[in-house]
Amino acid sequence: MPLNINSYNYHHRLQLKLKPIMVGELHLARKLSHPVYIFHDGIFMPVIEQGSIPTKDQITQLIKSSYREVFVYGTDEEEIKENLENALIKITRSLSIGDPIENGTKGMKLLTLNLNNLYQNPHNDKLLMLQFQSSQNLGKFLIDQKKHQSQFYSNINQENFHYTLTQPLLSSVLLLSFLQATHLFHDKEIQNLFLTSYFKDIGLSMIPHHKYELKNLPENDRDLFANHSDFSFDLLEGRIPLAKNYLNLIKHHHFLNDKMKAIISGESHSLSDPDMILGLESTLVAVFDIIVAMTHERPYRRSLSLYQSLEVIKKMMADDYPQEFKALISFLRQFFKN
Ligand SMILES: [Fe+2]
Repeated sequence: MPLNINSYNYHHRLQLKLKPIMVGELHLARKLSHPVYIFHDGIFMPVIEQGSIPTKDQITQLIKSSYREVFVYGTDEEEIKENLENALIKITRSLSIGDPIENGTKGMKLLTLNLNNLYQNPHNDKLLMLQFQSSQNLGKFLIDQKKHQSQFYSNINQENFHYTLTQPLLSSVLLLSFLQATHLFHDKEIQNLFLTSYFKDIGLSMIPHHKYELKNLPENDRDLFANHSDFSFDLLEGRIPLAKNYLNLIKHHHFLNDKMKAIISGESHSLSDPDMILGLESTLVAVFDIIVAMTHERPYRRSLSLYQSLEVIKKMMADDYPQEFKALISFLRQFFKN
């Protein structure tokens, strides 16, 4: 498929002009002003011709060949990003018009592609507000689509996105579905907790991308990863319309992991931060984050089965919330029954 161009100089000049985009963003391209490139064996190789519109087959082929990223010229990149933003606005404003599964899945894919752009520009207010409004609309829509929630989860799970992009949405869809199933929460609370869960990892944008692929993290980097919940809080405070209690929940969304570490090491677990909220809501946000993370593979570990991950969750929450833990098991059995 690729047309090989063997000029050393040519490749070095290209490097200055090309911008990475996600393969899925090619669906948003119109007529390309320059070719689309892949980076293969140290050189850029054109895979889609200048002047054409990327076809579904070309995009599928790239995904099948395990390419997550392609490279385009800045002018094409700008147009693609703008088309993506417009498509996201359009779909999340009209989710209930037409086929709900098709619309919901498309909305979630576009939201995820756009999240990648926010990770690259976390201080961009326009991008952040677009993410907020789109995920807010999506949350409301998902509450209305009770019977399709597990289908949406599965559709997003099948996409070839990087785990830092799917983890927030998967954990939030699962959380929303559970909160609704318990009948303990108003729709407004469910919406706010969905948003809290979705935005909790935005601080990952402060961590250089290549570190996510490392099998072993040096000590300094481990601290950087451990601080991502603080980064999330700092990035979001005063910029999105979420109440302080939800922002605090974001700041402490890894408290269960800390509790777990303390249990393992035999230390007593004390909470040092006075802003810390310990309650069912924060426990559930953390629990669904952990379940989704554990049941998916990472570069540094294999995935666990749902059963294995529930063994861990049991140690974290069953003493404080025995009823909710039971409800969680029957909910998950139902959610993943197919
Ligand atoms: Fe996190």
